[in-house]
Amino acid sequence: MTEAEALPVFADVDTGVDDAMALAYLFASDDAHVVGIASTAGNVPVDQVCTNNFGLLELCGRTGIPVSRGADGPLSIPLRTAEDTHGPEGLGYARLPPVDGRLTDYDAAQAWVRAAREHPGKLVGLAVGPLTNLALAMRIEPALPRLLRRLVIMGGAFGYRGNTTPVSEWNVHVDPEAASEVFNVWGAAWGLEKPSHLPIVLGLNLTEHAAMTPSTLGRLAAAAGSSTTPMSVLDDRGTRSAAANPLIRVLEDAMRFYFEFHFDQGEGYLAHLHDPLAAAVALDPDLVRYRQATVDVELTGTLTRGMTVADWSGAWGRYPNAHIGVEVDPEAFFDRFIARVGPFAASLVS
Ligand code: BDR
Ligand code: CA
Repeated sequence: MTEAEALPVFADVDTGVDDAMALAYLFASDDAHVVGIASTAGNVPVDQVCTNNFGLLELCGRTGIPVSRGADGPLSIPLRTAEDTHGPEGLGYARLPPVDGRLTDYDAAQAWVRAAREHPGKLVGLAVGPLTNLALAMRIEPALPRLLRRLVIMGGAFGYRGNTTPVSEWNVHVDPEAASEVFNVWGAAWGLEKPSHLPIVLGLNLTEHAAMTPSTLGRLAAAAGSSTTPMSVLDDRGTRSAAANPLIRVLEDAMRFYFEFHFDQGEGYLAHLHDPLAAAVALDPDLVRYRQATVDVELTGTLTRGMTVADWSGAWGRYPNAHIGVEVDPEAFFDRFIARVGPFAASLVS
């Protein structure tokens, strides 16, 4: 597929181990043409997100993709970050090449708007961090929902526990006001007119099915024709990868930290690939089965702030504003991830 035929994709990330895996998937996909990256404060502070994005672009040979800096923090509350989950710099034990990258001279919210205006009706938006910059973009350009072909959001938890509070998922928890604004404004922009254009929302109830294990990571290295450093829960913490392929080495070093975090949470020696699943769905929504509902975010509950509430049966009498992912075949997703990222990693050294 030529670049002109590929889907233009704009990615909003808070890189983050699984954000990095999602970007690698997009770069590895011939049917995607990444036209811009918004760096959003979340897993790590926004300047670290920018640094991680530049390092990853360098590693993946994609230095031409514009990177924009987002707001320093959420719309109306202080920023909370997740170094315990993603490592001190956001990529676990991995070290990316130091790059003196040049940010765009417009910010991440403006980058959303520019990308949408440059590709009217064609752009696929992928938001896998807090929704701060997307909300700001919609304030600048209220027609944004109508300019996009599709929006895929990783956020929330539907009929499922949270991963940050008992009821709140991380991306929504960091900036609940932004998430609320995006759901409400996007829904109002489309109403019942074209339900197919409502955002796809993938919550923890879905993305936790995408659980990567050391053996899946070993399959990825094999598909890249690379040596690997097999991982086990018995390894010394922080053991570094000796994989020959530079991208596989970085992904293994990042994933080891993520495995250790999930293990410490009592989830086993595995890691949930929330954001890569969302990236795969952005290119092919048929990977997931959906139910339409009205989603809103609890903003005032003393115990439930940041909870995403889905009205499945129309009790609120409001238009639906989301297609919520309810079923996925994780094997199909991992097969596709490996079939794309493996050969891409191999191509970086050939
Ligand atoms: C989300 O939170 C972040 O830590 C991950 O990158 C993912 O986007 C999962 O709750
Ligand atoms: Ca993320």
